[in-house]
Amino acid sequence: MSLQRKLALFAKINLNKASTPLEHLENLSRVFDREIFIKRDDISSLAMGGNKLRKLEFLIADALAKKAKVIVTAGAIQSNHVRQTAAVAAIYGLKCIALLENPIQSDESNFLHNGNKLLTELFGAECVMCAELTDPQAQMEELIKTLGLEDTYIVPVGGSNGLGALGYVQCAIEIAQQKPLEIEFDKVVVASGSAGTHAGLAIGLQELLPQSQVIGVTVSRFKQDQAPKVEKIQRELAELLAIVKTPQIELWDSYFEPMYGMPNQRALNAITLLARSEGILLDPVYTGKAMAGLLDYLANSEENTPVLFVHTGGSPALFAYPEVSKSID
Ligand SMILES: Cc1ncc(COP(=O)(O)O)c(C=O)c1O
Repeated sequence: MSLQRKLALFAKINLNKASTPLEHLENLSRVFDREIFIKRDDISSLAMGGNKLRKLEFLIADALAKKAKVIVTAGAIQSNHVRQTAAVAAIYGLKCIALLENPIQSDESNFLHNGNKLLTELFGAECVMCAELTDPQAQMEELIKTLGLEDTYIVPVGGSNGLGALGYVQCAIEIAQQKPLEIEFDKVVVASGSAGTHAGLAIGLQELLPQSQVIGVTVSRFKQDQAPKVEKIQRELAELLAIVKTPQIELWDSYFEPMYGMPNQRALNAITLLARSEGILLDPVYTGKAMAGLLDYLANSEENTPVLFVHTGGSPALFAYPEVSKSID
């Protein structure tokens, strides 16, 4: 059975009304004398876009099938995932409760109230702060008990489990359909955080474009801790889709320091470069760091094969980080 037919067996709501564009980056390709393409999941059709909508298509369908009335999820104050979950919950008339942490202990007003946080509240989510998300699943279950909530559905951090990651198998199908015939992507580069995006793309492209190597650029932790997360979701996906072999996991981990949620100079430079060469907005937490990895590779690679960057969104966070405005010359 084709991957597309297997995917069609799962319940899904349609948040992305059409495929997101796959574009050639003319100016950046000229700079590096190499064909560079981008998959624009940053402009998916809802709530300022981003990668979580694809996961939520499957997760919220599951929640609705289970007759849930309250969606509970968790993330950082500037979580893109929480913003998109809040929007989807609003559309389906579900209450959304968000358990939030402040991973960088920032007391900047824009970090605490602007960007994704502003939008999460605008979409009507109820935000509950905690000191740290050490065991989000247990903490969300505890919160449900404390608030006496009924008919709840827990969406895991980042929407990352096998079911959510089906969204990125769907993205792999789109990429295979949209790819220009004469082009073979040597590398497909994506930010790897809670790992569902990376795992879904890797499983999907293994089946459809096996010559393309998916590379996750870590945004939260080093390789030795990230690889098991990707592996776990790949295994869940393999089981859901009856796939025998899971792909080898490729990670670049030199681009996220000092820590998750804190911008670094290379990410800020990547943000400026993409804005000024292509008019594309990256973000300081995920895609700026992932693009910094790709740019470093392009600058140091002897090869000239085509590459694809999967843009997973995140631009609302540009308004939350003073480092971004300070970096503009
Ligand atoms: C903009 C953006 N890019 C990439 C990621 C990472 O995706 P994943 O958590 O599926 O690894 C996230 C996760 O929150 C995100 O918000």
